[in-house]
Amino acid sequence: MSEVQSVEIRPEEIMDKLVSLAKRRGFVFPSSEIYGGIASCWDYGPLGVELKRNIKDHWWKSMTQKRDDIEGVDAAILMHPKVWEASGHVEGFTDPLVDCKKCKLRFKADEMDKDRCPNCGGELTEPRQFNLMFKTFMGPVEDDSAVVYMRPETAQGIYVNFLNVQGPSRQKIPFGIAQIGKAFRNEISPGNFIFRSREFEQMEMQYFVKPEEDEKWLQYWRGERMQWYLDIGIREESLRWHQHTQEELPHYAKAAYDIMYDFPFGWKEIEGIHNRTDYDLVQHKKFSGKDLSYFSTEEKKRFIPYIIETSAGVDRTALVCLADAYHEEVVRDEKRVVLRLDPKIAPIKVAVFPLVKRDGMPEVALKIYHELKVHFKCFYDESAAVGRRYRRMDEAGTPYCLTIDSQTLEDETVTVRERDSMLQTREKIPDLVRVIEQKVRF
Ligand code: GAP
Repeated sequence: MSEVQSVEIRPEEIMDKLVSLAKRRGFVFPSSEIYGGIASCWDYGPLGVELKRNIKDHWWKSMTQKRDDIEGVDAAILMHPKVWEASGHVEGFTDPLVDCKKCKLRFKADEMDKDRCPNCGGELTEPRQFNLMFKTFMGPVEDDSAVVYMRPETAQGIYVNFLNVQGPSRQKIPFGIAQIGKAFRNEISPGNFIFRSREFEQMEMQYFVKPEEDEKWLQYWRGERMQWYLDIGIREESLRWHQHTQEELPHYAKAAYDIMYDFPFGWKEIEGIHNRTDYDLVQHKKFSGKDLSYFSTEEKKRFIPYIIETSAGVDRTALVCLADAYHEEVVRDEKRVVLRLDPKIAPIKVAVFPLVKRDGMPEVALKIYHELKVHFKCFYDESAAVGRRYRRMDEAGTPYCLTIDSQTLEDETVTVRERDSMLQTREKIPDLVRVIEQKVRF
């Protein structure tokens, strides 16, 4: 019998285990926790912030650095209120709600299958539209003329800057604009940990194309985006497509496909790929009075481009990474929790351990640690037995642990222990940067 046995975890147990690991190891915890938390807002701790940064860096690099046809932008969260009238969000970004006349609780109308309150059995009101945008006031006077909104998607910051970016970058259609940033939605039923929250981060790219080429680019971006999840190590069998029916389409889209992930709480959307047609640019042209058309020098004609949008959630991707990576095993009668994160997105790439706290080992280990941390996020640990230190790193998803032992002092080699297989090899100290670099680079 093998020394390592996988432990089957029931889907309904996984979320509790993930939330507890996230808190225990400093990935994610409730916002303002000492005050009892604030509904569906989350703070990322030392490991979570590295995970999120790696996800964003990987996306940014794949969208901008590795291509010549996409430029970056970082627009303000607060925008002119007319933006949200033009985009259709003031009128259409709503959910129908019902109130219980007795206990006053509020529910999403489309999630109610009967007309009595699920909490107290009381009578429900007729549905009313509830806008999901957060409102605030700009300046010292809190009246209607000072209302501004916290952006519910980053996309609009790209549309209004279409020509500001296109001009200086001298891009020609087809080309794209990418942005990563916070978005805010006053969700009626947030939940499932960081899956649906009220403050979250999006990674959005808007690709401007000739109207007659919309279908070609929609299909192209579907392929690119699915591949991106495979590249960060997500299992293929946990991913699938959902094509929106006419009834499901958002108000701005002619066609929409969602990338879905098999979460412990069911198949859910993690990214939307949308054909937004010329809807947004036409609307902004109408509301701003500015010409947002593009002049093609080759065809000597002016037109409003169509937009193919790829819209992903950073937090949702982080949850996918954690859920996909979480494993429990029994190794020689001992339980091990291991996060099999792809080395590219793992928060800590390398842990450095002296085998024991004597014989000059900590000095050599610290020297290696200081050399490596210039290149990768590293962690130094000399406390407890080395087996315990390995387990702590398994739980944090650290792909490589280096152990400095008595042989190191003789031949300048260290043990490299790989997280998933637990196999150990020996590498020469001067080769470490190159060997690890090959495994964690994206
Ligand atoms: N610009 C188009 C747009 O925003 P969306 O389908 O509403 O489209 C895109 O959102 C992605 O943003 C979702 O697939 C999800 O990853 C993320 N997202 C949306 N609402 C979210 C929420 N309340 N909490 C966390 N992530 C969210």
